[in-house]
Amino acid sequence: MTTGLDGVIAAQTRLSHVDGERGRLILRGYELEQLARSWSFEEVVALLWQGLVSYPHDLPAALAQARIAAWARFAPLLPYLEGMSAIEGMRFLLATVPDQPAEATALLGSAGVAMAAAIRQAQGQAALAPEPGLGHAADLLRMLRGRPGNTAEVRAFEIYLVAAVDHGLNASTFTARVVASTGAGLASAVVAALGALKGPLHGGAPGPVLDMLDAIGTAPAAEAWVDAAIARGERLMGFGHRIYRVRDPRADVLKAAVGTLHGGRIALAEAVEQAGLKALARHKPGRRLDINTEFYTALLLEALDIPRAGFTPVFAAARTAGWIAHACEQQQTGRLLRPASEYIGPWPQAYQPDKVL
Ligand code: ACO
Repeated sequence: MTTGLDGVIAAQTRLSHVDGERGRLILRGYELEQLARSWSFEEVVALLWQGLVSYPHDLPAALAQARIAAWARFAPLLPYLEGMSAIEGMRFLLATVPDQPAEATALLGSAGVAMAAAIRQAQGQAALAPEPGLGHAADLLRMLRGRPGNTAEVRAFEIYLVAAVDHGLNASTFTARVVASTGAGLASAVVAALGALKGPLHGGAPGPVLDMLDAIGTAPAAEAWVDAAIARGERLMGFGHRIYRVRDPRADVLKAAVGTLHGGRIALAEAVEQAGLKALARHKPGRRLDINTEFYTALLLEALDIPRAGFTPVFAAARTAGWIAHACEQQQTGRLLRPASEYIGPWPQAYQPDKVL
């Protein structure tokens, strides 16, 4: 019996396949590397949603409309975000979206607007309205930072959104499928998935990667710092993965994207990557530990000038498309997800009042 459901197949999916032995991520018949090369976020969303989710033919235009409608809904609610973290604020705003099956596009547009508004409000900055005519990635980046991105920045952000859109039956996606299987609507499934993503074992790792780089400071200090951390029994942030036994394919896609931007700490990151790989090979010779997606996610989002406290909501804005696809796929099975548990408590006994309270 496994308490973490490791290796248990709880659903059949046509959406994504994570091959931990070969380091491949396949999204509906395409390798992630192919999609990241040239596809827009909207094209990848349409790929995932085809045949599962109902959405308008012109998805980019419909998504732009959805962002504008979301802003009209959220603007009066922004004062209530006072004192909330960015992820809590995003969850609060999305909980106001109607919970109806035909709301997929509205929900994805709302997730982008809610993400940007909640991050800005949590930083003490005024939230910004969407701009019609922009693509999803360009508009999210503009709303988030308060200034438009240049071509390289928008493309790098779009690659991030594509790399984060879906990844098998991770904890938040499983949560979305469980909620959808009860017949609750898509908004309920997405709000529940956000709750699962919020936990530090799932969506909260890229911030600590930057803390580690801050502590190391300069490339020449990397090797000594990493060796000392391993000797103290610490885990290196951004290394290792529950499923990948080789390099996480998202890491190289994101590393290449960081390389197209100015101002990233790429030289320091590469020195830490090399030092970490050497130290971990000595520390765990039989277990290949490589970098995971969080390592270069942290570098990419930092180079785009996105605040650390916003990393998890940005991830959620991308993954919402995957959660929606999985929720609809689960609903199509018409089957309630209801696993069994093994009872290990005491068996019926005589009532003894003094033992109960
Ligand atoms: N640094 C040092 N040692 C490590 C690391 C690491 N980053 N990762 C694993 N190990 C060691 C473990 O301590 C373990 O040693 P032990 O057997 O002596 O206890 C051994 O390698 C094997 O560990 P696994 O069983 O492969 O790792 P597990 O599946 O339990 O953990 C996890 C995976 C949580 C990601 C782990 O590698 C880790 O803590 N990494 C650092 C945090 C991090 O980067 N998290 C983001 C993950 S990516 C994502 O969630 C999207």
